[in-house]
Amino acid sequence: MKETVVSGIRPTGKLHLGNYFGAVSNFIKMQHEYNCYFFIADLHSLTTHPTPSDLHGYVKHVLVEYLACGINPEETTIYVQSDVPEVAELYLYLNMNAYMGELERSTSFKDKVRSQPDNVNAGLLTYPSLMAADILIHKATKVPVGKDQEQHLEMTRTFGNRFNRLYNADYFPEPYAFNYSSNLVKVPGLDGKGKMGKSEGDANCIYLSDSPEIIRKKVSRAVTDAGPTSDNQEKPEAIQNLFELMKIVSLPDTVNHFDELYNRQAIRYGDFKKQLAEDMIIFNTPIRERIEDIAKDTSYLRQVAKHGALKARESAQKTIREVRELIGFKPF
Ligand code: TYM
Repeated sequence: MKETVVSGIRPTGKLHLGNYFGAVSNFIKMQHEYNCYFFIADLHSLTTHPTPSDLHGYVKHVLVEYLACGINPEETTIYVQSDVPEVAELYLYLNMNAYMGELERSTSFKDKVRSQPDNVNAGLLTYPSLMAADILIHKATKVPVGKDQEQHLEMTRTFGNRFNRLYNADYFPEPYAFNYSSNLVKVPGLDGKGKMGKSEGDANCIYLSDSPEIIRKKVSRAVTDAGPTSDNQEKPEAIQNLFELMKIVSLPDTVNHFDELYNRQAIRYGDFKKQLAEDMIIFNTPIRERIEDIAKDTSYLRQVAKHGALKARESAQKTIREVRELIGFKPF
C-alpha cells in the first residue's frame, strides 16, 4: 500500500516562489510515488473575508497553477476543499477536543492577533483543527509544506493522538511535514527581512505568473546595502536572502561566482540582481506560458475539479463513517 500524502494552499491570490519551493515542487515529485491529495484551501481563506467574486478567481488561480506546475490530475486527486463537506464535519469533532490554551499558543494565531487585531475571529483560533481535519480525513502520513507550517503538523499529531486515546482506537496515523531535501524550506522575500509571503506585500513576492518586465522591476528594487566593507564578512540578512533566492533558481557556479565577488568586496549589486532576475525569468517562463493556456480552458478546469471532488469525497466519506462509529453515533 502506498503511503498517503495531503497538502493544500490557501487561495489568497497567485502562487509565489515560496509556495513553489516550499510545497508544490514536492507535490510534483511525490505524485509518482504516493497516494496524493492536493487541495485548494478555500475554507481556510475565509478567515480574511474575501468577497464572493474574489474568492472564485483566487480558487481558479491555484487550480490553474497546480496544473501548470505539472500536477497530473490523472495521477493525483486535486480538489477544492469546500467541495468536500466531510472535512467540515471532522473539523467539528476535532474542535471538541482542541483546548483554548493550546490554540491560543499557536504562533500563527499570535501573529494574526498582532497583525489584524480588528479581525480575531474564531476561525483563526481554530485554524489548526481545520488543518488537522484536512490531513486526518485521508489518514495521511506525509505532508509536503514549508517551514512555517511545522507547528500546525505538531498540533495535527496532538489532535489525532488525542482522538485515538479518547475513543480507545488506533485510528489516525501520525502525519509529518515532508520535504525531499532533509530540511523544510523557508524561501525569503525581496524586502530584506523574513519570508516571501503575500501578506508581506506584492513587491516582496515573485509570482509564478509574473512577466519578465515585472520580475526585473521587483528584483531591481529589492533591498540591499552599501556593500561589504571587509573580506569574507558575514552577509547581512537582506543580502543573504538574495543569495538564498539565487541558490534556488540559478546554477551553483553562478552562486559561487557572486559569493566569491562578495567575499573579496568586488560585488556589484546591479550585476548580481540582473543575473538573479534573468534566472528567475528562465525558471518562470514555461510555467507562466502554461498558466496562460490552461486558464482559458474552462471546461477542462471544471472536469478536473469535478473528478477531484468525487475521488476526495470517496476517501473522506469512508473516514467519516468510521469516525462516527467510533464516536458512538448509531442509526436507530
Ligand atoms: P499557505 O497557503 O500560506 O502556503 C502554502 C504552502 O506554501 C508554503 N510557503 C512557503 N514555503 C517556503 N517559503 C515560503 N516563503 C513560503 N510561503 C508559503 C507553505 O508552507 C505551505 O506549504 N495552512 C496552510 C494551508 C493548508 C494546509 C492544510 C497545508 C491548509 N490545510 C493541510 C497542508 C495540509 C497555509 O496557510 O499555507
